[in-house]
Amino acid sequence: MAVLEIIKMGDPKLGLKSTPVTDFKSEELQILIVNMIETMRIYQGVGLAAPQIGVSKQIVILEVAQNARYPHADNIELDVLINPKIIDYSVQNEFDWEGCLSLPGLRGQVQRSKRISYEAYDREGRRVNKTVHGFHARIIQHEVDHLNGILYPQKLSDFKKFGFEDSLPTFLETTNSANP
Ligand code: NI
Repeated sequence: MAVLEIIKMGDPKLGLKSTPVTDFKSEELQILIVNMIETMRIYQGVGLAAPQIGVSKQIVILEVAQNARYPHADNIELDVLINPKIIDYSVQNEFDWEGCLSLPGLRGQVQRSKRISYEAYDREGRRVNKTVHGFHARIIQHEVDHLNGILYPQKLSDFKKFGFEDSLPTFLETTNSANP
């Protein structure tokens, strides 16, 4: 296993559209997934998309397990989504804070659909169809954006709710009020 370098906002590779995975049996794919998982855990991410490690392929992983960067989030089991497609978005939206390992130290409030349905393949190439909501739906929307070359600052509606996590009064208030 290996911890990979995460590329940062400004790197043109983050703006590329990723291509679908076609060979699910390749050893290269399985090694890449294992290394992405180790990298996400080391950096305390709740999600990671292959473009963030400079690989322009449609691979997303996510996991929430007592995460220090998101202390109030419910746990989500490790999941690997290959060639994911969001096929339905709830009309109801909600705002919440997001961070990204490609923008270390920053947070922004982004509007996302409360619930989504998606199709994907798992790491063995089996088709998956799921409906998820809340923070789980938010992570997948954020990661699928990465596959399309989009970073969350492009989705901000209020630039005052974007900044460094240790300097944003509104972010700190939310965090403290949720866990007094
Ligand atoms: Ni991200």
